[in-house]
Amino acid sequence: MTPLPPRERLRSLKRASLLGAPTPIDRLERFEKAIASPYPIFIKRDDAIPFGFGGNKVRKLDLVMAEAVQEGFDSVITCGGVQSNHCRATAAAATRLGLRCHLVLSGEAPATLSGNTRLDDVFGATLHFVAGRLDRAPAMTSLGASLRAEGGKPTIIPLGASTPLGASGLALGIFEMIDQGHRPDVIIHASSSGGTQAGLLAGITLEGLKTRVIGISADESETALRRTVEGLERGVLDLAGSDADVTRAEVMDRFVGDGYGLETDGSREALNLLARAEAILVDHTYTAKALAGLIALVRDRSIAPGSTILFWHTGGQVGVLAR
Ligand SMILES: Cc1ncc(COP(=O)(O)O)c(C=O)c1O
Repeated sequence: MTPLPPRERLRSLKRASLLGAPTPIDRLERFEKAIASPYPIFIKRDDAIPFGFGGNKVRKLDLVMAEAVQEGFDSVITCGGVQSNHCRATAAAATRLGLRCHLVLSGEAPATLSGNTRLDDVFGATLHFVAGRLDRAPAMTSLGASLRAEGGKPTIIPLGASTPLGASGLALGIFEMIDQGHRPDVIIHASSSGGTQAGLLAGITLEGLKTRVIGISADESETALRRTVEGLERGVLDLAGSDADVTRAEVMDRFVGDGYGLETDGSREALNLLARAEAILVDHTYTAKALAGLIALVRDRSIAPGSTILFWHTGGQVGVLAR
């Protein structure tokens, strides 16, 4: 049998049916006016994925959880910060698919659960708090060992479901965007564990587009994140059976401010502008910083004249309500 061409290979990956219809792509005319943009700006509404409060993680989990079910695991273990969107989406996906979910959350256990942590609990996940980021991986390993010792069959999903398989979900997102008739010149989005940008870039490469994909870092340095993204992009292309070269990933870390999850003047402005012009929510940890990056690039005219921009909204709106 002749192997499937790369795009078809990705399209034929087993999915868990967590995604509904294609997410809308809308023009942000009022927001364009608010920032005096000479460029048309569109938004890809992955925040509006109906399952489990949506976001980019649902695209990744659609593939990663399908594999976990296929391989007969009975529980998943994953990790993130206390307000992790990825953990909340994993908790929802596990419940939908009949698996148990254990979340290793770094940070202080809150006195009252709010935002994503509250949803983790509501979706039935077991929460395990550890002090810092470096404690997460060992905690997941030892949790896996104790569940196995009790006769369970757990699998560990790495941070952000940023594996080549998970990132492929965003390459499928690019195919979806093209099917919707959009071929933007520039895509801007929030980047952290690298899978989203890797998948978007792989999709762009496989479609032969020239689109610039700019990842606005939520925490990591440009150098470190670029290396992660490029490694994962290679993984996605390999999974697709493509020997295309990896694109150099364009990452910007100058919008992080004082650190992960901390508001900046730019994120406050971005959140207020989008909410008041379009009634669409972004969060300070990821998407408001990405939008602050977009606003800065528009104001600086760092984008080629005549370009069309697409803001890939990766979700995180639950964070607006977290205490
Ligand atoms: C809302 C939101 N946007 C963007 C990201 C970054 O995506 P990635 O981890 O795939 O780089 C995350 C997760 O880290 C997220 O929760």
